[in-house]
Amino acid sequence: MSNLFFLFQFILFLNLTLVNAGIYKPEQIRISWTENKGEMRVTWVSYISVDSFVVYRPVLCLGEDTTWKTIQGTSQTFNEGEIVVKFQYIYTAVMNNLNSECSYEYYIRNSITESEIYMFSGRTPETSPPYLETKRPLSMIVFGDLGIGTNAMAVKDILLQEAKLRNFLGIIHMGDIAYNLDQDDGTTGDGFLNIIQPLAANYAYMAIIGNHEGYNNSTHFRTRFKMPVNQDNQGSGYFYSFNIGPVHWIVISTEVYIDNTKKASAEIQTNWLKKDLEAANKNRENFPWIFVLTHHPLYCSTHSAVTCGSEAELYQSILEDILYENSIDIMLQAHVHSYERDKPIYKNLTVKSDYDDKHTHINAKAPLYILSGNAGNREGHNEPLPPTYKDWGVYMADDFGFGKLFVYNETHVLWTQYSATLMKVDDYVWLIKDQPRYN
Ligand SMILES: *[C@@H]1O[C@H](CO)[C@@H](O)[C@H](O)[C@H]1NC(C)=O
Ligand SMILES: *[C@@H]1O[C@H](CO)[C@@H](O)[C@H](O)[C@H]1NC(C)=O
Ligand SMILES: *[C@@H]1O[C@H](CO)[C@@H](O)[C@H](O)[C@H]1NC(C)=O
Ligand SMILES: *[C@@H]1O[C@H](CO)[C@@H](O)[C@H](O)[C@H]1NC(C)=O
Ligand SMILES: [Fe+2]
Repeated sequence: MSNLFFLFQFILFLNLTLVNAGIYKPEQIRISWTENKGEMRVTWVSYISVDSFVVYRPVLCLGEDTTWKTIQGTSQTFNEGEIVVKFQYIYTAVMNNLNSECSYEYYIRNSITESEIYMFSGRTPETSPPYLETKRPLSMIVFGDLGIGTNAMAVKDILLQEAKLRNFLGIIHMGDIAYNLDQDDGTTGDGFLNIIQPLAANYAYMAIIGNHEGYNNSTHFRTRFKMPVNQDNQGSGYFYSFNIGPVHWIVISTEVYIDNTKKASAEIQTNWLKKDLEAANKNRENFPWIFVLTHHPLYCSTHSAVTCGSEAELYQSILEDILYENSIDIMLQAHVHSYERDKPIYKNLTVKSDYDDKHTHINAKAPLYILSGNAGNREGHNEPLPPTYKDWGVYMADDFGFGKLFVYNETHVLWTQYSATLMKVDDYVWLIKDQPRYN
């Protein structure tokens, strides 16, 4: 009797400990846009395999049925360990039939426990106008090179505050995520994805591959992030595009071009990029802006002669003509740990617009290059600035910060860079145009 009682107590203790240790608890909850309109993907993790569901409903809108809908997540077993075998279960489910004028509440549940309730905008990739920009601009947070150490704290803190205001739609992380997703048998990746959960569970979190995601054929990046799928990327998440607002957003990997084992992938991506841009240009009246985002810069000034020299020139030789001939408007980059805004550039020369001043370009005739890689890496303070600017350099900063794009409409876009150290807008530029293409 007392033995049995003891056993029972022990099992109870074990169970409670397991629950408290959170192995059932859904964690690392995050959402992302898919390749389809009206969808939002949610991805989460637990350390025990258990049937797990997303439960969601529209709120704050007119005429929608607000009963909760439930979708079961499909699960994938992921060994995140390198030295030890360490399994986690990555679940994903796609919430669908979303109405762009609604917000949505959702939570994750399994048979034992459930998450808090999160909320997101029902605005998802679009196929045609009219857009919702009549009332306020579409705004997207953009940064690169964010880890979990002390360097990342300033940006992390202000972003978590921003998340409460609900005045932006999504986040694009331009590579070098967590430093590194695979570090310490994946513990660093898990920690990062839990730290950013208040952001990533409430706003589409779109990831781009950087050089720190390379370990074991980028398994951690490919398995943890479920980015929009197309025929050519085969679900790798290395390159994809989507339309939101009057903008065609394109993500590409620069990693494939510096890794000689990836020649075939490089060719697949380059061909996809050309195809994607050709299609985007046929639809340019509907989506007049094209922004391209990647990890390594084509133009930069503050890093080594390799990064801002031979490597940058390699990317220029592969990509610059494609971008220029297709009249892309902005090239966003990271990797270098500083902030740098340049003028419109082609072949290493400044290209004059119809009108230019320090904070305005009207009818630019080449891509505007911006580098925002100063969110907070793990490798030490940001790069020191050079004593002089290149001919096309406009503004640089070496503190910690992140960028925000405001797309007002078909003709007006505002880029801002926030300093998380100074807690203020550190730089901004208006891009204004009266026709979709310059070429
Ligand atoms: C490397 O990735 C493969 C899948 O892509 C996985 O099966 C394997 O366990 C990983 N190995 C290590 C050491 O992470
Ligand atoms: C790396 O991953 C890709 C999928 O993105 C796969 O096609 C390729 O075969 C893998 N390479 C190796 C060496 O495992
Ligand atoms: C590009 O132009 C800058 C001046 O703006 C110059 O310092 C640099 O050497 C040029 N690079 C090449 C590869 O010509
Ligand atoms: C576009 O937005 C800008 C900035 O708010 C505004 O000045 C301009 O009038 C808008 N244009 C149209 C066509 O709505
Ligand atoms: Fe990098």
